Amino acid sequence: MNDQDITAAEGFGKDAVRLDEGHVVGQGGIPDRFENPGLPPHVPRGADLSEAAAKRAEKQVAGLFTLSILGTVLFVLAYFLVDIRTMAYLPGIGDMSLQHVLLGVGMGLALLGIGLGAVHWAKTLMPDEEVVEMRHPMRSSDADRDEVVRIMKEEGGKAQLSRRPLLKYTLGGAMSLFALPVLLPVLGGLGPMPQKSMSLTFWNGGPSGPGEEPAFTPMRLMRDPENTAIKASDVTIGSVFHVLPEGLLDLEHGVLEEKAKAAVLLMRLDPSDIKSQKELDWGHQGIVAYSKICTHVGCPVGLYEQGTHHLLCPCHQSTFDVTDDCKVIFGPAKRPLPQLKITVDDEGYLVSAQPFREAVGPSFWERG
Ligand code: FES
Repeated sequence: MNDQDITAAEGFGKDAVRLDEGHVVGQGGIPDRFENPGLPPHVPRGADLSEAAAKRAEKQVAGLFTLSILGTVLFVLAYFLVDIRTMAYLPGIGDMSLQHVLLGVGMGLALLGIGLGAVHWAKTLMPDEEVVEMRHPMRSSDADRDEVVRIMKEEGGKAQLSRRPLLKYTLGGAMSLFALPVLLPVLGGLGPMPQKSMSLTFWNGGPSGPGEEPAFTPMRLMRDPENTAIKASDVTIGSVFHVLPEGLLDLEHGVLEEKAKAAVLLMRLDPSDIKSQKELDWGHQGIVAYSKICTHVGCPVGLYEQGTHHLLCPCHQSTFDVTDDCKVIFGPAKRPLPQLKITVDDEGYLVSAQPFREAVGPSFWERG
């Protein structure tokens, strides 16, 4: 058999010509394939040559596992000791719950420490022999399986777990504690139940954070984001305003959290279109104000269909009828949008007449 017969028999086509053991080319001289060049020569690592380098690597790996342990401890302390309503200002992001920030940092360090520690351990201390396994049937023979078990035991010893108890204990600590960040949120939730947090809004008289409940004072309805007061005469039939309580945008901290609960939509309808007497009484000459926070899962309800007097939530298409107490007429929301009772002050500006009478936003166990 000549070279051309050999390459045809190997499946490279009758036009392929075998030139030597290294590679096969087609008749145009373009390589069809290259032989496996094999592995580069083995270069021993520092830790293979010097016990001092191995010791240094061991400390680095142990340091990374310790970082993981500290991350988990931070997660647990933040979970139990930090009030979820304590806010922290993060440059470029804004106000965030300090507990959520610490939970994220703790879990990140816990994961990163284990991951980096394992990689560094593998690269510096574990055996670095290159092994080639030829293709074989999917199920290994019993002899091979026994051999694998034997090698695992032998190589496990070479990984120096028994020789280096510091690694064994720090890895054990990191792995066993790491289950906590997964288990705690599953068993205990990511914070307390909302309780009164969604019943109290800035409309109650000021910031709704922890502390004493503020005494109600009427507040002007302010345009968002212009922060200018609205006169009843400014609101024409068919118009819609995005509204916040007076003073909210002047807060130094917590603006986003307060805004997320106190945002309101203000609309004016022809009073003869309004079906509910309570809605008429809580409004002013057809001007009505409703919470903008969807009662499904809390998206801002932002689409007003002037012709039908429907409010639409863009998230899952819940639709509320503004002529009838903002009852749900379509979609997954289960409750009407809460109405804010309004009136006008001596100068003709729209003001709140009382805070919301029920919790705003999604349904939850303690809504009551
Ligand atoms: S959040 Fe509004 S419909 Fe789902």
